[in-house]
Amino acid sequence: MKAVVYEKYGSPDVLELKEVEKPAPRDNEVLIKVHATTVTSGDCRIRALNVPVGFGLISRLVFGVFRPKQQILGSELSGEIEAVGKDVSKFKPGDPVFAMGGFGMSCYVEYKAMPADGLVVLKPANLSFEEAAAIPFGGTTVLDFFRRGKIQHGEKALINGASGGVGTAAVQLARHFGAEVTGVCSTANLELVKSLGADKVIDYTKEDFTENGETYDIIVDTVGTAPFSRCKGSLTGKGRLLLVLGGLPDMLQAPWVSMTSSKKVIAGPAAERAEDLHFLAKLADAGEFKPVIDRRYPLEQIAEAHRYVEKGHKKGNVVITVEHNNKKEEL
Ligand SMILES: NC(=O)c1ccc[n+]([C@@H]2O[C@H](COP(=O)([O-])OP(=O)(O)OC[C@H]3O[C@@H](n4cnc5c(N)ncnc54)[C@H](OP(=O)(O)O)[C@@H]3O)[C@@H](O)[C@H]2O)c1
Repeated sequence: MKAVVYEKYGSPDVLELKEVEKPAPRDNEVLIKVHATTVTSGDCRIRALNVPVGFGLISRLVFGVFRPKQQILGSELSGEIEAVGKDVSKFKPGDPVFAMGGFGMSCYVEYKAMPADGLVVLKPANLSFEEAAAIPFGGTTVLDFFRRGKIQHGEKALINGASGGVGTAAVQLARHFGAEVTGVCSTANLELVKSLGADKVIDYTKEDFTENGETYDIIVDTVGTAPFSRCKGSLTGKGRLLLVLGGLPDMLQAPWVSMTSSKKVIAGPAAERAEDLHFLAKLADAGEFKPVIDRRYPLEQIAEAHRYVEKGHKKGNVVITVEHNNKKEEL
């Protein structure tokens, strides 16, 4: 089968389309025929080992000191169940699903084998495969941060970077949890962010939200421009700053902020949970959550997609479509 492999860290040029062995599902696994995957900001970070301040050494220990231990990137996918192991009763061949690669990543592939009781769930019928592939990365990140930040109905939430992959999920999910949402984005994305349910939008090219006198119970920073030092005055008395993009110093500062004030800083990697994927699928089914798709590229042009994504200005998600050439597969 085809897969996109990278054998060294670097620019998008390190990504190579290669033939690799098609996996066979173990007894407890499903084999997914992949229809779509995505290029996330996280994929670009790992490919280039371009990580937030202070995480350089830790990242090398996790992903490989000199070269990547896991040579196939990709955080999320959608597709159809092709085959199931003998102990699997939850899925059957033909079921449409979406899934998260978890620590093993490896979603830039034509087929993926993974545990049936892991990060794989049925695709909501009202979403395309392309939309479903883009559910997990932004959706699970936001759910984890909102859980840790204890978002409440009626609270005021501000999303900095409201038009990105995480931001577009955050706007929709904050609305779902009953928050009054303000989205911060550039002029070109104001309408998009409003259309996702933001009550207010702030154009960061014209207004600095930390200077307008408003306060928020929750501030989500997906950009790295709203550290505690800059936005503590914009948090209410018990306000929580959710640093989706934060460096090691921000993480280390978090306990100190909690000890010395009633405000909180929450940072660090988000947990990936199967129950969150189920929750997101239910919300999508109910029409309350729909991933935003910016661009689509075929698997063969994935390096182009990486070049676009790492500019840091995508609107929602960038999808990779995976075409299956049946004749080739039979050979
Ligand atoms: N902690 C975790 O576990 C975790 C999980 C997922 C992601 N992340 C991190 O979160 C970050 C965001 O991820 P993403 O996938 O959402 O990235 P993304 O899709 O590239 O979005 C970034 C967004 O930031 C906006 N932006 C750029 N400059 C801005 C500014 N000065 N003020 C406000 N918005 C601005 C861009 O909008 P414009 O085009 O309008 O400028 C763009 O929509 C990444 O760095 C990623 O590594 C962390």
